[in-house]
Amino acid sequence: MATLASLVVVLVASANVFGASQSIFTVPKTFPKLQGCLTEPLTYSCENTTTIKDTCCSPTPGGLVLQTQFWSTYTGLERKGQLLPKGSWTIHGLWPDNCDGSFEQYCDLSRQFDPAPSPAILPDGTVVPAHKGPGVDTFVAEFKRLDLLDYMSKYWINQGAPNADFWGHEFSKHATCTSTFDVACYGPDYKKHQDVVDFFDAVIRAFKMYPTFDLLASAGIIPSNRTTYTLTQLQTALKAQTGSIPFLGCGFNGTVLQEVWYFHHVLGSVSPSTHMSLATCFNACCNRRNNLAISSLWTQPRIRRALLLLVSTITSAHIRRNVKSVFCPDVDRNAM
Ligand SMILES: *[C@@H]1O[C@H](CO)[C@@H](O)[C@H](O)[C@H]1NC(C)=O
Ligand SMILES: *[C@@H]1O[C@H](CO)[C@@H](O)[C@H](O)[C@H]1NC(C)=O
Ligand SMILES: *[C@@H]1O[C@H](CO)[C@@H](O)[C@H](O)[C@H]1NC(C)=O
Repeated sequence: MATLASLVVVLVASANVFGASQSIFTVPKTFPKLQGCLTEPLTYSCENTTTIKDTCCSPTPGGLVLQTQFWSTYTGLERKGQLLPKGSWTIHGLWPDNCDGSFEQYCDLSRQFDPAPSPAILPDGTVVPAHKGPGVDTFVAEFKRLDLLDYMSKYWINQGAPNADFWGHEFSKHATCTSTFDVACYGPDYKKHQDVVDFFDAVIRAFKMYPTFDLLASAGIIPSNRTTYTLTQLQTALKAQTGSIPFLGCGFNGTVLQEVWYFHHVLGSVSPSTHMSLATCFNACCNRRNNLAISSLWTQPRIRRALLLLVSTITSAHIRRNVKSVFCPDVDRNAM
């Protein structure tokens, strides 16, 4: 087994080779205290045999890391140019679940950038105030990461509100509970909002590992209004390509595929090159008996607009009902 010291050497060497390119082999900026992690035992998150002392080196307690994606057919803001990408699922987020599948949320209200907190009141009664300041997209722009902003605008798509609202939501609800993004991990050189940019980079890296549309298409599974697929067909295709069966979420009484969650334990910080994919601890909420539809994008704007209100009402009600019933005991997760 590689020691962390040799792993670091490899990563650093790769960084020198690839320089500032966007290769996933560059040292992620999410390793602000890489040197400080040399003395930590090399272990997958949730699999440590001794206490993890430096929580900047491994997500703790949120070591069950989920890369979550959506399949949608509309954004609701098409007329403002907020479109879905062609031939790709979209990003939901990168979530730090506890090792037992429960999870924390909004862990640092000094980094609350969510304009519409959900939930607005935490289980312990803490109120999460709505963010009124500039969107997180302006933070990314301040770091001159227009490449990152471009990618996010293409693949990290909100429904019914601007994309940046969703990005701020995902950061404040989830990344503030991912210990490796703690401000304290950056030490005295911390630049304001660096953690936000680093989290977004990590989300993109993880998303790129799972081109769900292509993974399914390579097994002949493509969105269609007519052809349906069995849950087993979907699970088999994804397991063949990723090594594990992810969580599959459906709407419309468990008949229309809408979500996928890929589970991992991670080595070191939240990095895709060093992960172990895991089967979900949740059952798919897609119906096992019926065949499943993967709706194709509605191409006719007039039909789309007429159906929009109806569809959004039905799906939100049913996603919540279905999802609740399949989570691990004592776990309840809002749709986002
Ligand atoms: C793993 O590390 C966490 C965080 O420090 C700690 O709570 C847990 O007890 C550790 N597990 C073992 C088996 O020591
Ligand atoms: C969902 O299933 C229930 C029970 O079979 C049924 O009563 C209900 O009408 C269904 N709803 C939709 C939207 O299909
Ligand atoms: C799917 O159904 C919608 C709504 O009826 C329709 O507008 C669209 O053209 C259909 N797409 C395909 C590929 O058949």
